Amino acid sequence: MAKYRIAWLPGDGIGKDVLDATKIVLERLKLDAEYIPGDIGWEFWCKEGDPLPERTIQLVKNTDCAMFGAITSKPSTVADTELLPELRGKGYVYRSPIVRIRQEFDLYICKRPCRAYQGNPLNYKENIDIVVFRENTEDLYAGVEFYPVPEEFFRIKGMERVPKDAAISLKVNTPKGCERIIRAAFEFARTNNRKKVTCVHKANVVRATDGLFLKIFNEIAKEYPGLEADNANVDSLCQWLLKRPFNYDVLVAPNLYGDIISDLCAQMVGGLGFGASANIGDDYALFEPTHGSAPKYAGMYKVNPIATIIAARMMLEWLGEEGLAQSLEKAVESVIREGKVRTYDMGGNATTLEMAQAIADKIGG
Ligand code: IPM
Ligand code: MG
Repeated sequence: MAKYRIAWLPGDGIGKDVLDATKIVLERLKLDAEYIPGDIGWEFWCKEGDPLPERTIQLVKNTDCAMFGAITSKPSTVADTELLPELRGKGYVYRSPIVRIRQEFDLYICKRPCRAYQGNPLNYKENIDIVVFRENTEDLYAGVEFYPVPEEFFRIKGMERVPKDAAISLKVNTPKGCERIIRAAFEFARTNNRKKVTCVHKANVVRATDGLFLKIFNEIAKEYPGLEADNANVDSLCQWLLKRPFNYDVLVAPNLYGDIISDLCAQMVGGLGFGASANIGDDYALFEPTHGSAPKYAGMYKVNPIATIIAARMMLEWLGEEGLAQSLEKAVESVIREGKVRTYDMGGNATTLEMAQAIADKIGG
């Protein structure tokens, strides 16, 4: 029996390309793991009316953690037209399977490191090293949405001024949801010798929900006197991030702002090929590149696998395999610094698997 059972979920498009690459480095590290493939993504929506079939939920329940490739997400109006004809009109509703996994397994931390590796030609500026902690289960992602809005809604006091033909998506933030992500960000900062945690919000306008997030942030900050606690409105933060990225260290944000600023931060350190996510709960975690499924490159083994390999490094850390995580990180650093092997986004012509191979060769063994 292997030490770890890892759900292996390639998903759509280039998901398989980048997971194949990641397997090369994990095998070179001799991680004692069994990789169990699972079905997820667009193909299963079209054929079965469910992009996250029940058998995959069971697989997740029976594994230690998951590596996930990429997913195609389309608005439901488009999704419906791609169902098998015999499934159409039967009430199937498309919801992004990755958002569902995060919520159903309560993977409330989305950790997204954005570090400018030395020698990466795509760095916006050198020495950027930001880690985004994005709340991953609630906020505007709660999935509480109405269109049309039911009659009884307008009977609530204060709602009468909402036009009858409005569409409504609720931003739902709970004290528990705010507290656990904020605490995770501070704990990470404390244990990793970080200096500062910045709370991202829009509490000047969105008073109830973001006001709650900021209030809880200020309370928890008091428990960490050794760390600088700072906060910023999300709009102005975007400007400052571009102007003075070195002023930021750990960012903590509600779900949607976290989604947006993590793309901005990823772009400052090389873009899609470098943005990785760890979705972490109390007893399960799923690791993925932040990028989408890039269908036009599917199966061409052209895209940069480094984002997924960084995600695998976070998986090793989460499993407690610190030594392996460090070997992998060093190997990634050295391939980027040398600059001999580069994928197309970095201005080179190495394939996905050649990049993985180059990283594996640095590991040795
Ligand atoms: C991300 C992605 C997802 C999200 C999409 C694919 C549903 O943008 O992981 O950042 O919005 O969370
Ligand atoms: Mg996103």
